[in-house]
Amino acid sequence: MSQSLNIAVLAGDGIGPEVMAVSLDVLRRAGDKFGFSLHLNEQLVGGAAIDAVGQALPPSTLAACEAADAILFGSVGGPQWEHLPPQEQPERGALLPLRKHFGLFANLRPSVCFPSLTHASPVKNELIPHGFDVLCVRELTGGLYFGQPKFRREIDGEMTAVDTMIYKKSEIERIAHVAFAAARTRDKRLTSIDKANVLENGLLWRATVTEVAQSYPDVVLDHLYVDNAAMQLIRRPASFDVVLAENLFGDILSDEMAMIAGSLGMLPSASLGAQKPGGLYFGLFEPSGGSAPDIAGRGIANPIAQILSSALMLRFSFGLQEAAAAIEEAVKATIAQGLRTGDIWSEGTQKVGTSEMAAAVAANL
Ligand code: IPM
Ligand code: MN
Repeated sequence: MSQSLNIAVLAGDGIGPEVMAVSLDVLRRAGDKFGFSLHLNEQLVGGAAIDAVGQALPPSTLAACEAADAILFGSVGGPQWEHLPPQEQPERGALLPLRKHFGLFANLRPSVCFPSLTHASPVKNELIPHGFDVLCVRELTGGLYFGQPKFRREIDGEMTAVDTMIYKKSEIERIAHVAFAAARTRDKRLTSIDKANVLENGLLWRATVTEVAQSYPDVVLDHLYVDNAAMQLIRRPASFDVVLAENLFGDILSDEMAMIAGSLGMLPSASLGAQKPGGLYFGLFEPSGGSAPDIAGRGIANPIAQILSSALMLRFSFGLQEAAAAIEEAVKATIAQGLRTGDIWSEGTQKVGTSEMAAAVAANL
C-alpha cells in the first residue's frame, strides 16, 4: 500500500486557486513516481470564505486542518475585502489565527535567486555574481503580532494604540534551535537580528541566541541591529547564509530578501510547529508572495512558489526527502530550459503561462 498524504488544501484568493490547481498536478505526478497518493480536503479560506459563508476562517476549514497532517495554503486577500474591520479581513481573520492555533512558530523563508535569473533582481548584478541564497528564519507566533495588551481606544480624551512586544526566553530558544539546525545543513553561518541597543526584547534575544550557540560550535554566529541588517542586505547580499529574526523584523527583512532574490513568484515558505516524535512537523506551506489580484485569473502567474511550497511540505510534514528534492531539481531544470513566466522573463527566453510552466516541471520530474 502506498503512503497516502492527508492534506488540507486552502487555495484562497487571487492567484491562489490557479497556482494551487497546477501545483497539485505536479504533486500527483510526484506521487506516481515516488509511490504516494494524495488525500486532499479542499476548503474555503480568506476572501473566498467571507463571500461564501461570512468569515475568513470558517470552523469547517479549521476542523479540516486539524484532521490533516499538513496545510497547503495558496494566498488570501484582495481589495474587495479591505473595507472590512481589520480583524475580519482575510489576512488577520485567517492567516494569523491559523499560525497561532497550530503553534506554527518557525517560519522558514528561503530566498533564492538562480544565477540565470539575477537580471530579475533590483540589486547590482555584480553584487550577486552567483545568485542569492539566504534562508530567513522568522519567529511567527510571538512579539508584537500577538502580545497582549493590544488595543486602540480613547485614553485621556485621545485615541491611543497599544501593541505589546513580548518574548519569553523559551520562545527565543526554540526558534534559535531551528535556525542553528538549519545553518548546519547549509554554510554554517547564522546572523541574528535584534534591536539590542534600544529594546529590552533585543537584549534578551541576543543573550539567548548567544547561549543557544554554545550547542552549535560548528556554526559561526554574528549579530546585527535590524536597521543595519536592512542596509547590509543591500550592500553585501551574497555574504549572508541564515538570518534569524523575531516576528516583525522577520516580516520586514524577509520581504527585502525576497525583493533581492528578484521575484516573489519563485519563493516558497514553511511555517512549522514543534517537531513531532518521529521527526516530522505539522506545517502550513504557502508561497511567500501574496494573492496578486492584479494578475489573478489570467493564467500568467508564476506557479513555482506554490510548487516549491509543496516540496517543502513533502520534506517537513511527510519525510519524503527524495520526492521533495526531485521537485526542486525539476524546477531548476525547467528554468534551465529557458521557460519563464512574465515576472522572470528576459529577452531570449520563452514566455509561458501558469499551466505550461507547471506542466514542464511535472514533465521534468
Ligand atoms: C507575511 C504577511 C503577513 C504577516 C500578513 C498578511 C498578516 O505579510 O506572511 O509576511 O505580516 O505576517
Ligand atoms: Mn510579510
